Amino acid sequence: MKTELIKVDPLNPNKELLIPAAEALKRGELVCFPTETVYGLGAVWSDAEAVAEIFKVKGRPQDNPLIVHETSVERMKNYYASWDQVAEVLTKAFCPGPFTLIMKHHSSLRSPATAGLDTIAVRIPEHKVTRLLIEAAGEGLAAPSANISGRPSPTNALDALEDLNGKVPYIIDGGACGYGVESSIVSWNEGKLELLRPGGITAEDIERVLDEAGLDIPLFRAGSKLLPADQTPRAPGMKYRHYAPKAKVHILKGSGCREKLAALVLQLEAVSQEDFCWGLYISDELAEELASCLSADDLKKLHIRRFAGELSHAEAAKGLFAAFRSMDREGVSDIWAEELDTSLVGAAYMNRLLKAAAG
Ligand code: TXA
Ligand code: MG
Repeated sequence: MKTELIKVDPLNPNKELLIPAAEALKRGELVCFPTETVYGLGAVWSDAEAVAEIFKVKGRPQDNPLIVHETSVERMKNYYASWDQVAEVLTKAFCPGPFTLIMKHHSSLRSPATAGLDTIAVRIPEHKVTRLLIEAAGEGLAAPSANISGRPSPTNALDALEDLNGKVPYIIDGGACGYGVESSIVSWNEGKLELLRPGGITAEDIERVLDEAGLDIPLFRAGSKLLPADQTPRAPGMKYRHYAPKAKVHILKGSGCREKLAALVLQLEAVSQEDFCWGLYISDELAEELASCLSADDLKKLHIRRFAGELSHAEAAKGLFAAFRSMDREGVSDIWAEELDTSLVGAAYMNRLLKAAAG
């Protein structure tokens, strides 16, 4: 199959350009598209064969359900068995946006997207291109991240092409994703509210919104550890290794810049006599400290990707997967990525980093 890239302006998309992709979706084919979080690999959610094809193309385990993407809260409500004040408050605050809500689905609902569970995950993207595509397809789109299972999620069209070339008819190129990590997933089921995956909407955001609405409901947070294969996790995806580049990922720990720098220099000294090829994913501050204590020759050996640490953890999260993929292309054997505190979007960043470093 030949894969065609359709380039669209993410801020002012021309709807006409999306028609061939929407027609392909209606015919039961898969389309890769941008969202504000990461690129998705979509099919019409009610088309069982097309959804089954997503699992095949990704090499995704059959027990790992998909998120359905919709255009409005009104349409979102159609998937769930019931609706209540918590759902109302959360969706009013966070939809459209990087927020996925899992609740019990309608008993009559049948789609391989749910992997046989009695719950369903739905989200409303805010990306203009995603919204136009769903509208043009006429139905909600089931879509996981557009990576081959286990790899880092693609956050630009070329990274998506790397995994999907020849496997889908269309990849819509809407530029780089604004968040760079997948949506925050919240499960509201059997009286328990749980943040299964942290993302651009933070635990602090959710707690504040509940508090402002006068809802006294605790928010549980799932850990970042991988579960053993024989355990049933609340989010099936939690038992699989995720987000991993080919290079071995290490976490550069320390409570401040100085400590991290000292740790890094120690590691570098240990390999400096050897022929090594390392990548670094570090903040501007650390990169500058490093530049002042290494020789130009030593610095040149390192494949450094920087993020603007001062601008908050969101910048670190946004560039992480793209850095993994580009360093893989440069053939680095090891990636050292800077640890950040887990406040706000730091939780999403550290969640992805810990999983990439596991295993
Ligand atoms: O930002 C995102 O959420 C992106 C874009 C494309 O929208 N999508 C995405 O999908 O990250 P995926 O399939 O890579 O991750 C979805 C996660 C998986 O870990 C899956 O196990 C979990 O959501 N999930 C989906 N439905 C679920 C359900 N009914 N119960 C528990 N977990 C569910
Ligand atoms: Mg994924």
